[in-house]
Amino acid sequence: MEQKKILCVGLVCLDIINVVDQFPEEDTDTRCVSQRWQRGGNASNSCTVLSLLGAPCAFMGSLAAGPIADFIVGDFSRRGVDISSVAWQQRGETPCACCIVCQKSGSRTVVLYDTNLPDVCADDFSKLDLRQYKWIHFEGRNADEQVKMIEQVKSFNATQEEKNRITVSVEIEKTRPSLYQLFPHGDVVFVSKDVAMHFGFDSAASAVKGFYGRVKDGAVLICAWAEKGADAKGPDGTVLHSEAFPPEKLVDTLGAGDTFNASVIYSLSRGGSLQEALTFGCQIAGKKCGVHGYDGIV
Ligand code: ADP
Ligand code: FRU
Repeated sequence: MEQKKILCVGLVCLDIINVVDQFPEEDTDTRCVSQRWQRGGNASNSCTVLSLLGAPCAFMGSLAAGPIADFIVGDFSRRGVDISSVAWQQRGETPCACCIVCQKSGSRTVVLYDTNLPDVCADDFSKLDLRQYKWIHFEGRNADEQVKMIEQVKSFNATQEEKNRITVSVEIEKTRPSLYQLFPHGDVVFVSKDVAMHFGFDSAASAVKGFYGRVKDGAVLICAWAEKGADAKGPDGTVLHSEAFPPEKLVDTLGAGDTFNASVIYSLSRGGSLQEALTFGCQIAGKKCGVHGYDGIV
């Protein structure tokens, strides 16, 4: 049988990326250093990284037919990502983000329009043949539906021998209360610095300790903290840490978190320890920060 895949469920969008030397003042008219179109969205970016790492992977999210979707589909195919489970929507537009990447600071500023395309729902998810996957990662979005999808995975797992069970990870990145219901649903839970800071935590270590009570028994909780690296807490209660691996020159941090998540998932899915996965995640995410886009991260 074909090697089992890692499925990422979440957003795909078009990123129109403007690389600037200096962040523009409001209401000015300036030139950028370069401009490119790139396939974006957290789950979609994580697929790019998984495929660069050599892991068979699949993406599930929504698209609306048209020239932007054509660009996106072409790029998925170039990277060898399986998109057979994309939900093609009859109404709404494919999301698009205007991104400013500032070379001086490496900062990324994103303005996303993704309000009118329906998300994939539990009904779409029920059509999947779950035997194809060894890991399913959910980028927290329409959490009510995503919880139902995870219930489907749990029911599937209950019918399977240990070795065929699917590991579930969830990412809670945005400070949207509906997303917090995902904490108890992942075997691996990624919580962002943004969410941690919103809850008053001032470090990754304090965040993984503070949020740990929300995850289910036996789960792993991970929090990345930009140039400070990342921390994790697993069932044995120890808080692990990895330093960041800053590139020689910081050029583009867009998708650093998605790169980190994919690299951690890759490592854990191949039997790596939590410490190995954390360190590997920071190494690959650090490399990503030193290049524009994703080529060259491996
Ligand atoms: P994002 O803002 O994309 O969500 P995070 O802040 O969560 O990214 O960072 C994810 C990982 O990327 C960090 O754990 C770190 O390893 C790496 N990273 C991000 N920013 C930097 C940076 N400025 N220098 C070095 N590594 C970084
Ligand atoms: C990076 C990213 C971009 C996208 C934005 C959406 O993490 O996924 O590709 O424009 O975030 O929030």
